[in-house]
Amino acid sequence: MAGVILKIMTNIALIGCTGSIGRQAADVVRRYPDRFRFTALACGKRAGELIALCREFRPLLAYCEAPFDPPAGVKAVKDKTELFAGCDVALIAAGGFTGLAYTLAAIEAGKKIALANKESLVCGGELVMRAAKEKGVEIVPVDSEHSAIFQCLSYRCDAAFEKLVLTASGGPFLHKSKEELAHVTVRDALHHPTWKMGPKITVDSATLLNKGFEVIEAKWLYGAPLEKIGTVVHPESIVHSLVYFSDGAALAQLGYPDMRVPIQLALTYPERLPCAPMLDLTQIGTLSFLPFPEDKFPCFTLAIDAARAGGTMPAVLNAAGEIAVQAFLAGCITFSAIADTIQDALGAFARENAESYDQLAETDARARAHAKAFIYGSSAS
Ligand SMILES: NC(=O)c1ccc[n+]([C@@H]2O[C@H](COP(=O)([O-])OP(=O)(O)OC[C@H]3O[C@@H](n4cnc5c(N)ncnc54)[C@H](OP(=O)(O)O)[C@@H]3O)[C@@H](O)[C@H]2O)c1
Repeated sequence: MAGVILKIMTNIALIGCTGSIGRQAADVVRRYPDRFRFTALACGKRAGELIALCREFRPLLAYCEAPFDPPAGVKAVKDKTELFAGCDVALIAAGGFTGLAYTLAAIEAGKKIALANKESLVCGGELVMRAAKEKGVEIVPVDSEHSAIFQCLSYRCDAAFEKLVLTASGGPFLHKSKEELAHVTVRDALHHPTWKMGPKITVDSATLLNKGFEVIEAKWLYGAPLEKIGTVVHPESIVHSLVYFSDGAALAQLGYPDMRVPIQLALTYPERLPCAPMLDLTQIGTLSFLPFPEDKFPCFTLAIDAARAGGTMPAVLNAAGEIAVQAFLAGCITFSAIADTIQDALGAFARENAESYDQLAETDARARAHAKAFIYGSSAS
């Protein structure tokens, strides 16, 4: 009897379709049109790009923060929560705090989450994990380090381990002294040695705030106390992270740095489909590992402090970081002033328990206003 090939179509709502992760998700869908379909596309300001993507992928629904005129057959929704109606998976790839509202809305709709937006867990980890548990919703990591851990734990977020070790490229300033760091430019900061990403996360990779965010993300995803999450510098970005087990064994996941791999895997696991070239170890030759340079990069320490404090403090950390990086990219502050801005905000806010999205949104708004006043003077809001 001839075998029957069953192709299962995965319907995806992609939030942040015009960004770095969004565009790479579009590559994955383009490559496998029989496996993946976008049912909804959403973005912030780039309406023209959204319209082009709507023409190409013909989703049912689209959303843009800016006014836009969708092509025939695509319905523009006004309410974000409507975006998840026809999907199997919500791929949350919007940048920043804005991602949290989408993540919570997708969980409320009972949809599986492929999570690229790390700020959802940094700012709202407690709420997100609680809501996902209540709704029986699965959260699958897209961030490469967390995807590596997910793979090493046999695709289980609740598996036993002794320690998680996140690898860090170290960013473009790994070998700079503290004095040199005071004079680096926006152009230098945007020149990441191994990954091509959006501007915010690229600057966060240069300050190592991003690695602090990833520690918080790992804490929530894998239920790990902070003491069980380590970091190591690995400049080649080939080993994407490691898991240590009680018998002393360690498992790692390796691959060329290419976000399409974890994006695709979050949509297909446990199945794997061709995606990137196989590693050629002899061509790579040597892999190096160095101690994490925490004392040179205060943003990492600030992130860990905020994680220890918990409650609303990681939301303050993130909000001040978003404002500081915007100001740095606009040429208004120095690289070192990013950490100063975050430190000032963390010192000015008292910890509260994180009870609701509205409370976090209010904290986020206040922390942004505070950081703006710190940078531009007290008249800023
Ligand atoms: N890039 C990477 O390799 C990478 C790796 C791991 C994790 N991540 C995480 O993935 C997320 C996205 O990163 P990225 O590098 O792709 O950022 P990005 O290139 O700056 O893209 C951000 C995306 O978010 C969209 N957006 C902004 N406001 C929105 C809103 N209100 N509603 C819907 N969409 C909105 C933007 O739309 P417009 O451009 O139209 O305004 C854009 O599509 C971040 O949380 C980042 O930390 C990224």
